[in-house]
Amino acid sequence: MAIQPTQNIWHNGNLIPWDQANIHVMSHVVHYGSSVFEGIRCYEQQNGTAGVFRLPEHSARLLDSAKIYRMPLPYTEAQLSAAIVDVIEANGITPCYIRPIAFRGYGEIGVNPLKSPVEVYIANFPWGKYVPGNEGADVCISSWSRLAPNTMPSLAKAGANYMNSQLIRMEAEINGYSEGIALDVNGYLSEGSGENLFLVRGGVLYTTPLANSVLNGITRSSILTLAKQLGIPVVEQALPREMLYICDEAFFTGTAAEVTHLRSVDRILVGDGTMGPVTTALHKAFFDIVNGLTPDRYNWLTPVKVRVAEPVGA
Ligand SMILES: Cc1ncc(COP(=O)(O)O)c(C=O)c1O
Repeated sequence: MAIQPTQNIWHNGNLIPWDQANIHVMSHVVHYGSSVFEGIRCYEQQNGTAGVFRLPEHSARLLDSAKIYRMPLPYTEAQLSAAIVDVIEANGITPCYIRPIAFRGYGEIGVNPLKSPVEVYIANFPWGKYVPGNEGADVCISSWSRLAPNTMPSLAKAGANYMNSQLIRMEAEINGYSEGIALDVNGYLSEGSGENLFLVRGGVLYTTPLANSVLNGITRSSILTLAKQLGIPVVEQALPREMLYICDEAFFTGTAAEVTHLRSVDRILVGDGTMGPVTTALHKAFFDIVNGLTPDRYNWLTPVKVRVAEPVGA
């Protein structure tokens, strides 16, 4: 999907014009992938307000990712969250996707990043559905494995991790699937190239634990909370690949993918291919909150002041 430019990008504390948010080709990040980033959504609610979904958690994860890579960010979680609200309000665009990124800039060209300056940017832009297929996604198991433990830390949302994700996604699309699911280095289910994975069997909701090389997804944690609220039993455990072939329901979660049900895996239908009852209940609970149809009982939405469309029924 092409990026639609907005007016302003936040850079190290100031708003600058979109076209001036450039870096030098000799920046450390260009050569060695030394970046950490976030993907966040701001939703419009039906009463005419707009809110950023789980903003403090995203800012905190950016700080965690930077800490893992010894990249000092001179901002607190609250300052990053305030900057994100500022850039959304300055651009006046909702719903939108927000992309904060911190990276090692222009300084030294050796692999050690510590003498290259840290730059922080925050952009936002309109963005729609990520995993194609309203009728459910047809996915495959990738021939590529997810990052092995103690190689690239999967709890850091680092730009370089997405070289692995690119291999998974390209292979899937070239072979006619909308997304690929990677196994971990031991052959257990891990996650999609940019989504966490859930499946349902016998009324129990399963998801892969953090030790299976997954990102600690914020949508994942939201779904776990909603499952508990709905009384759905949840099991986090290592899962063999074939669980995906015999489960009743399966779905992806992620900021981009939101809650996307899987119609088939490796051309084997998941259940009867339609969105099953557990997925439907969780999908509804999630969208009811982000669309403002139900009270935001977990305070997941941080309000932003932008002019949004007329409230429904107004
Ligand atoms: C590899 C990977 N796993 C999982 C997720 C889902 O995480 P979240 O729900 O925090 O967006 C993402 C997206 O950020 C991702 O890139």
